[in-house]
Amino acid sequence: MPKNSLLVLGLMSGTSADGIEAALVRISGAPPKLKSKLLGHASLPIPKPIRSAILRIAEGTPVPAAEISQLNFRLGHLFAEAAITTCSQLRISLKQIDLIASHGQTVFHQGKPLAFLGAPTSSTMQIGEPSIIPARTGVTTIADFRPADMAAGGQGAPLVPFADYLLYRHEKIGRVSLNLGGIANVTVIPARSKPAGVFAFDTGPANILIDALVSHFTHGRRRFDKNARLAQSGRCLTPLLETLLRDPYFRLRPPKSTGREYFGRKFVEKILRQGRRLRARPEDLIHTATILTALSVVDALNRFVFPRTKISQLIVSGGGARNPLLLCQLEAALSPIDVLTSEKFGVPEQSKEAYAFALLAYETFHHRPSNLPSATGATRPAVLGKISYA
Ligand SMILES: Nc1ncnc2c1ncn2[C@@H]1O[C@H](COP(=O)(O)OP(=O)(O)O)[C@@H](O)[C@H]1O
Ligand SMILES: [Mg+2]
Repeated sequence: MPKNSLLVLGLMSGTSADGIEAALVRISGAPPKLKSKLLGHASLPIPKPIRSAILRIAEGTPVPAAEISQLNFRLGHLFAEAAITTCSQLRISLKQIDLIASHGQTVFHQGKPLAFLGAPTSSTMQIGEPSIIPARTGVTTIADFRPADMAAGGQGAPLVPFADYLLYRHEKIGRVSLNLGGIANVTVIPARSKPAGVFAFDTGPANILIDALVSHFTHGRRRFDKNARLAQSGRCLTPLLETLLRDPYFRLRPPKSTGREYFGRKFVEKILRQGRRLRARPEDLIHTATILTALSVVDALNRFVFPRTKISQLIVSGGGARNPLLLCQLEAALSPIDVLTSEKFGVPEQSKEAYAFALLAYETFHHRPSNLPSATGATRPAVLGKISYA
């Protein structure tokens, strides 16, 4: 790596709020010749009461402003502690880190303007007070990436396509990057594409429904279906699957994004109600939700991607890449397209998004824009994020 490289620590917590992912990345140069290498990564748990508070707010439960304010600061400390723990696990001194990128925890996202108090308004809120991070780590921190894209007329999401483009663009091979977090999202990178040729959207649920069902049936004892063990012991309820696949979100044309606001508690209650009517076993519902995730991704690719561009590889990241039932369903339904995990490209599945935000922070540090207007709908490129100096 050239001398002018920076060591950037990316911190990310997604819709699942299952943990903070950290990625330590050495970055140098500038796009399109930007170079980056992952030096290490870590996953830090989010304590149960904090996760419950996040989910309560993110599900739209009315809560006092005091609770959001307190949680913002509590999470700021948690992200700072995650940075400190990651460095000690990776045996690197905080002094060697040039920059921290903190995505924060999304608790609300309204990408498209809605009428509000007399004017169309879009907004987004990622909490985890950034000022606390340099105060506790001594490292300059860039956070709150989404609002600048919204201010430029975009939806504030998705932002990861910038990283997908840098990591996966190929002269001859058309690729789709699929992240299976709480929500599933795709970035389409046609062969030889310029940044403006990249498009991206959320296909629908990834683990959000599976996690909610597992947590419901185990009374909170388990949070997710590790290695699809529960799903594998159930069977697919075809009529329920067909009903769920008819959800209007899947037909909506991109650009589109979704979250807990749509595929949260209410959606899960609908599945549970139909399950009771069918006298379904818990493992059958979990199995069906897993197949729904895979087939809604396939459906989105068939409708909105394959008619536009030739794709030969699907590169999967996010916690869902560790779900064998999800992966084998994708493989079976997409053959002859190669389904690969991001690990093969030097990006461990769980650290992909933290890696991406490290790249965005590096760009901001150099005063360069990093939103892709073709992905977010922004009217112009924007330098993303806010800087808290050490
Ligand atoms: N071994 C595994 N088997 C099945 N699912 C897994 C496994 N590991 C992680 N997951 C799923 O991945 C989810 C977390 O994925 P992640 O990419 O962190 O999502 P987010 O960005 O929404 O936080 C977990 O909630 C779980 O559903
Ligand atoms: Mg996560």
